[in-house]
Amino acid sequence: MSVLIKGGKVFYKGEFSDSDILIENGKIKSIGRNLNGADEKYNAKGMLVLPGLIDPHVHLRDPGATYKEDFHTGTRAAVAGGFTTVMDMPNNPYPTVTVAALFEKAALAKKKAICEVRFYFGATDHNFDEIERADPLSLKVYLGKTTGELYLRNPGSLKKHFENYKGQFVFHATGDGKTEHEQLDATYKNIAKVGSLSNRYRRSSHIAHASCGKEVTISKSFGLTVETAPHYLFLDSKDAKKLGYRGTVYPNLRSGGPESLWKKIDKIDCIATDHAPHTLEDKKNGAHGFPGLETSLGMMLTAYHSKKIGLEWIIEHMSEKPAAIFDLGRVGRIKEGFYGNITVLDLKKEWTVKGNKLYTKCKWSPFEGRKIKGKVKSVFYKGNLIFDDFSFSG
Ligand code: NCD
Ligand code: ZN
Repeated sequence: MSVLIKGGKVFYKGEFSDSDILIENGKIKSIGRNLNGADEKYNAKGMLVLPGLIDPHVHLRDPGATYKEDFHTGTRAAVAGGFTTVMDMPNNPYPTVTVAALFEKAALAKKKAICEVRFYFGATDHNFDEIERADPLSLKVYLGKTTGELYLRNPGSLKKHFENYKGQFVFHATGDGKTEHEQLDATYKNIAKVGSLSNRYRRSSHIAHASCGKEVTISKSFGLTVETAPHYLFLDSKDAKKLGYRGTVYPNLRSGGPESLWKKIDKIDCIATDHAPHTLEDKKNGAHGFPGLETSLGMMLTAYHSKKIGLEWIIEHMSEKPAAIFDLGRVGRIKEGFYGNITVLDLKKEWTVKGNKLYTKCKWSPFEGRKIKGKVKSVFYKGNLIFDDFSFSG
């Protein structure tokens, strides 16, 4: 099986060039001009051809809270948003903190997901042996309150995890507190603690969802990697007020957060969505989190259109950079030998965010009503065209 993507502007080696891409047996065989000879042709004229995007932070809720999202609906939302790899968080109602839970989750994803899903393992105060047996790609450690019960309570556990686990750490460093000031203060202290332990034990640590510029500065001062999410770049505490019960998220939307993050944009290692879908019923009852998979690229493009940031920066920080941080293998770039995961973007297509039109099961968005220019037209996953003409066929 081979397919030829012809006539598009291809993001290759950090810039756009007129190229064709030949995908054979799921992998990119060659990239160049005037390629020929494939079973099928895809006309990408007038389109931007990007590597399938990678989201290092999603909550697909499967198993245990599938009324909010599941591997099928969640990966459809991912693909519609241009993603072909997502990394699923462990804070399910029955958390991913044992080998058995990890196997169960992986089996469900294998049956239901339409793109690649990788899995975080969660750290508890007791699961050191399970972590050793699971030997996960990445360990998620919650140092503050989150959806579910998964956070460290014993102050000694953090050091013990650093002693035992040698892979990639990811921290929910958001601290708890009544006021914004208290929360941020606790967060800065958490990041500094993680930073010094990472350096002492020579471990690699990543800070999830920075909500303001100072979190970025402190993370980088310890040599950590750090992500933020579009809602922290485009929404602040005033928006949270307007959104009412819809506006609650861990970490909270901050006053002056977007301005402070944009000032540090060059230091941010990658963009994640922290796609955390909840039904509106659950939001009314205090659930924290926003869906983000279908609006992330579009919102980032608004920053490109207003000349805040280059297109190249956006793509790299949503593909190549997360692939490098998490050592994801042959994804995140258009390159010979890499998987044929390709996102075709129509940069001129205008649309308005409408929750009820989204593929996520939760059917709402904190960006409701936003006008966006640029939409994912088609997606190839391992060489198969699974999304085309702005929709799924099945
Ligand atoms: C996340 C969720 O609902 O799982 N919520 C959120 O507000 N970001 C949990 C988390 O990332 O802490
Ligand atoms: Zn999260």
